[in-house]
Amino acid sequence: MRILSSDITSHEGKEVELAGWVGTRRDHGKLIFIDLRDRAGIAQVVFPAADKALLEKAERLRPEWVVRVKGTAQKRPKGMENEKLPNGSHEVAASVLEIFTEAKTLPFDIAGSGLEVNEEVRMKYRYLDLRRPRLQKNIRSRSKILGFIREFFSEQDFVEVETPILSKSTPEGARDYLVPSRLQPGAFYSLPQSPQQYKQLLMVAGMERYFQVARCFRDEDTRGDRQPEFTQLDLEMSFTSEEEILALTEEFYVALVKRFYPEKKIAQVPFPRLTYKEAMERYGSDKPDLRMDKDNSNELGFAFVTDFPMFEWKGGEKRWDAVHHPFTMPRVMDVNDFNIKFKEGPSKMLARQYDSVLNGFEVGGGSIRIHQPELLAAVFEAMGNKPEEVREKFGHMLEAFDYGVPPHGGIALGLDRLFAILEGEPNIREVIAFPKTGDGRDLLMGAPSPVDAKQLKELHIAIEEKKK
Ligand code: AMO
Repeated sequence: MRILSSDITSHEGKEVELAGWVGTRRDHGKLIFIDLRDRAGIAQVVFPAADKALLEKAERLRPEWVVRVKGTAQKRPKGMENEKLPNGSHEVAASVLEIFTEAKTLPFDIAGSGLEVNEEVRMKYRYLDLRRPRLQKNIRSRSKILGFIREFFSEQDFVEVETPILSKSTPEGARDYLVPSRLQPGAFYSLPQSPQQYKQLLMVAGMERYFQVARCFRDEDTRGDRQPEFTQLDLEMSFTSEEEILALTEEFYVALVKRFYPEKKIAQVPFPRLTYKEAMERYGSDKPDLRMDKDNSNELGFAFVTDFPMFEWKGGEKRWDAVHHPFTMPRVMDVNDFNIKFKEGPSKMLARQYDSVLNGFEVGGGSIRIHQPELLAAVFEAMGNKPEEVREKFGHMLEAFDYGVPPHGGIALGLDRLFAILEGEPNIREVIAFPKTGDGRDLLMGAPSPVDAKQLKELHIAIEEKKK
């Protein structure tokens, strides 16, 4: 039976079997040592001089070959221990070596951080890049945290619901990714920029407390903290308030840090709350970095920024647009009050919107939603939609709200940004298994890529030749 490298100490004196990748190989006179790497770490394996055939086979071994070794777990000779390894007091004296596969020389070193390696090469060989301990740790702790998220929110009576990927556009301020429909010629699905409308419809459906680890798609320029597809922890609650949503978000962050990053210190609990106006006046930013000591990598400066403006002027389109999204409740009493205040000055109107900020990054955003259909229609129209456009784009929401909608609100946390900060990484690509490059390409798979003429024909699509 195979054991893990971490278990060799507890198997002292026993016959064991290890399997994994060859790290380094060291030849010491008549003995050969290898570091065998598996998911738990590395174990030293020694090939004794006595067995000539075995030694010859071991001599062929090169880094990253995949092998199985059988042998006896034993204490290392006195003075040969490696205190840097948790199992460094022990080794395995091999009696059998099986080579599963050989490996070419890797295009880059996987022992270091990898940050010095050309990123295009890292992305092309991401499956090798992921072997490095730093990325192994990031991806494994991401997985553990996802488990914790499910535990935390299920315990608080939230329902996890998977919402569609093939859907209709929800405006979140970016361009949509479109998917042509084969069965409805000329029609397209949009990939969701977020599950915003579905989570609100789930409130109409009586779920009351929803969460999802949701994949979102936005066709916008990629940056260090921005990917075309990314993951949100998406939440929505009925019969709620700003206070309840922010308190729950804070409770979640505090529990997460305590469980997985106990060495980190949260600068201030309860988290400071600033209005957008205060943040801009005091820090000149709506995502201020509130750490006391910005050089201290173990400090976490969480904050909430509230009361954002409701509208911003889109000069190019000559219309007012929602700062967050049009489902956000403006600070008004009712639709009449909205119409009066909008006439008086849209730029002065405030929204019941809040952001979650960490170390100067926006790691989350949400709002209390409009639940009155007539107010929602008024906001859509204020944003320059004609009544028939409102019906066409959002008629399903207005109709749903005619059947008894509870007051509701929610928030979405950008998990990639959160993990990157918690892991002390310089950008979110380091915490995503298969990220895209700055120009939106997947260099490993070679996506996006041209498709067959036959596929295009089925989709009723003709490609326009680029003008030379
Ligand atoms: P918002 O658009 O503010 O809100 O997104 C929520 C959070 O998601 C993260 N984020 C991103 N992370 C990586 N790459 C991107 N391209 C990217 N875009 C956004 C940010 C951001 O704070 N539906 C609303 C939420 C709500 O109202 O409940 C929404 O998506 O950390």
